[in-house]
Order: sequence, then structure tokens, then C-alpha cells
Amino acid sequence: MTPRDPHPATTPVTDWEGFGFDTRQVHAGEHPDLNAGLRVPPIAMSAGYVFADFEDGADRFTGKSTDPIYSRQGNPTNWVAEERLASLEGGTAAVAVSSGQAAISAALFALAGSGDHIVSTASIYGGTRILFGRSFKRFGINVDYVWDATDDAEWERTITPRTKAIYTESIPNPLNDVVDLRRVAEVAARYGLPVVVDNTVGTPALIRPFEHGAHIVVHSTTKFLTGHGAAVGGAVVDGGTFDWAGSPRHFPLVTDGPRPGVASMLERFGTAAYARAVRESVVNDIGPSLSPFNAFLLQQGMETLSLRMERHVESSLTIATWLEEQAEVESVDYAGLPSNPLYELAVRDYGGRSGSVFGVTVRGGRDGARAFIDGLSVFSRMTGIGDTRSMAIHPATSTHATFPAELNARLGITEGLVRLSVGIESVGDLIADLRRALDRVAAAL
Ligand SMILES: Cc1ncc(COP(=O)(O)O)c(C=O)c1O
Repeated sequence: MTPRDPHPATTPVTDWEGFGFDTRQVHAGEHPDLNAGLRVPPIAMSAGYVFADFEDGADRFTGKSTDPIYSRQGNPTNWVAEERLASLEGGTAAVAVSSGQAAISAALFALAGSGDHIVSTASIYGGTRILFGRSFKRFGINVDYVWDATDDAEWERTITPRTKAIYTESIPNPLNDVVDLRRVAEVAARYGLPVVVDNTVGTPALIRPFEHGAHIVVHSTTKFLTGHGAAVGGAVVDGGTFDWAGSPRHFPLVTDGPRPGVASMLERFGTAAYARAVRESVVNDIGPSLSPFNAFLLQQGMETLSLRMERHVESSLTIATWLEEQAEVESVDYAGLPSNPLYELAVRDYGGRSGSVFGVTVRGGRDGARAFIDGLSVFSRMTGIGDTRSMAIHPATSTHATFPAELNARLGITEGLVRLSVGIESVGDLIADLRRALDRVAAAL
């Protein structure tokens, strides 16, 4: 058995390493219930944990024992979800947190502090851009953007001696402009930088960024992983492959002990050191831990991830292909369409199945988008992606509403753009719904 992030109190029943993805999404992380023999790992609603004796309490605080101290820092229900997600992504350990935004913050706060710098690809979720431009900036961490991830000269111009990480999304929300992670990893290797990938839209069922050279994965588990739109959550996954001590950059939370003579996370936890730093030195300090209730929904959601993703992408490909042929549609941003400039990459990395979140631009600008969105009834008008239900939103007046017009123009957020998240309903019903909405567009033109 290979201990990842050891929790002796809940040692898993079986080491699921080497088993297939579909087996691991059901079983990885489950542990024996010593009381009633429950088959489904229960919800452990307890803020704290009893110490066996005086010494045991001290051992937990000094790190001699990895048994839990307090649920801000760890919880048995969360461990099931964490172990399962780490297994699906092929990482060494994961830390569950209270939202995707918390995951991005915790992942990067473990790497960068005031005066440090992060380089991100430009096409990312609008909320992350807001997080970087507001809170990160206030905390003294500056984020600069690379617009063309294939342009080495642009990386060279943007990376500084204080850069501590490269950040990107596997399948960017909302434009489905898939990123060549291998190329980003090659750039990062030249500068001794860890690559952090938001794999929310990709999910480990479609792509595992560690296999493409990434070092850290973050998720909004609110989306496909929990899967049913009921619980906000997030997670940080450690790939265990970054050479923290060998990098010319300094990552004190991982490589330095808290005091002289006290071992560092790297010395104590090896390939899971970064995850421990996130858990102990960021999440435990700031406090965005995941409720065990939401962790339970997450572990259950992951059990059916690959099945749901199959339907999500199958329907998306059908819908994107159909939309492209409709007279009221100007363009469809789905990398898996042969007409898309990123088609070859989408085929190489995704077999042409580039997820289920993409943009459609209808004719008539904002009026066209209004008619389209108001004409939908199976698709829900709402913010959110990765639910069993189909959803639609108008980025220019929602997720991107606070950005200057020039920035939105550069980002490709136009007035006619609508983001779709295709759910698992009958695809015929979804197409019929979109057709009725396009009839409204035709009437408004
Ligand atoms: C790609 C991506 N990352 C992060 C987030 C933020 O996640 P949360 O809403 O769980 O904070 C979202 C939310 O839509 C997202 O789409």
C-alpha cells in the first residue's frame, strides 16, 4: 500500500493504485467503518477530535502523529473525497476547500507572497481574473497575462525573477480555447516554475494535467466533480513531481522548516509536501475548509464522473455541430469542431471531445443574445457550469460585466456571445429548446 497523505485513523481498505479510472472513482479513499460496518463512508460531523491522552495531543500538534486535530485542518469525510480526487488526477495528495476560488487562492498563496508575481494565460474564468486583479493585488501578489501561450518571446517578456507560478486552465471557461499544457510545461521547466492548472472544465475524466507536465491541479468541485449543482466546493491536488528544492526560486512554505531545527514539509512529507503546506500553512490559517456535508456530496458525485462526462461531451459535440449550421448563429467556439483553429490540439489531447462548456455567438449582438436567452426553457438562465442541468449565460452582462470594453474585446467576449453548459438531459430536447430560442433571434433580427 502506498500511503499518499497518511491518516492512520482511516487507512483505506485497499490500495486502489493500478485499478481502472471507473473503479477508482467508486472506491478510492473509502475506509473501514469500525463501528457499524457502513458501506458508504459516513458524514463525520465533528468540529474536533478526542486525543487518547496527554502525549497523543502533543504528538498531533508537533506533527509526530498525523491524526486529526480540528476540522479546519482535516476531516475523515473530506479525506475520502481528497484521496479519491488525488487518485483520479494521478496526484500524491489533495486538499478539499470551500470553493473553487478558495482552491485557486490556497494553491497560489502556498507559492507566492507579497512582492511575488504569477503569470497566467489570458483566457481564464472571469471570476479568477477578478480575484487576481483585486484581492491578489491588494495582498501584493501581481498577476500578468500571456495572450499567446505558444509565443516563447511573450513568456520571456512576462516572467520575472519574482515569478512563482504559471497558472492556466485546461479547457478555458467560456471560450473552450484549449491550452497546450505540454508546451506550457516546457516553458515552465526552463524557468524552474510550477504549473498550476484549473481542471474544472476538463475534469480528470477527460484530461489529467499531470500527464502533460503540470505540477498542481485546482478544481471548482462545485461543477462536474460534485456534479449535481447542489454544493459549492474546491480542491487543490499535488502532482508530487515538482522539484521544490532544485528550483532556483524559493518556496519557503515547502522547503523551509517553521523554526530552525524543525523539519520542513519537504523533509516530512516528500512528494506530498506541497499539499501539506496548502493544508497546514494556508487553509488552516485562513480557514476555507470544506464542510463534511459538501465533501460527502463530492465523494458521491465523483462515483459517476466518467459516465456523466461521456454524456456531457457526446451531447456537446452533437449540439455544437448542429448550432454551427443554423442561420441565426455567427460562430461556435468548440475546439472539437473541425472548423476550430484548435481542432488538432483538441484531437491530440481530448480525442476531439473538448468538454461541455463553450460559446455560441448569435446574430444581432446584445438584442440577439437577449432574444436567445429569453427563449430558452430547458436550459436554465443562470451562472454556473458542469451541472446535470443545461445552463446558459450572457458573459458580457454577467461574468465579464465589470471589465473595460477593450479588455472584453481582446478576450473575445462580444455582445452576441452566450456561454452554454450542456447537461445530461435528452439531447433532442436540448436541440429543440435551442431551436425555439433561435426562432426568437430570427424574429428579433
Ligand atoms: C474554471 C473555473 N474555475 C474556478 C471557478 C470558481 O469556482 P467556485 O464558484 O466554486 O468558487 C469557476 C466558477 O465558475 C470556474 O468556472
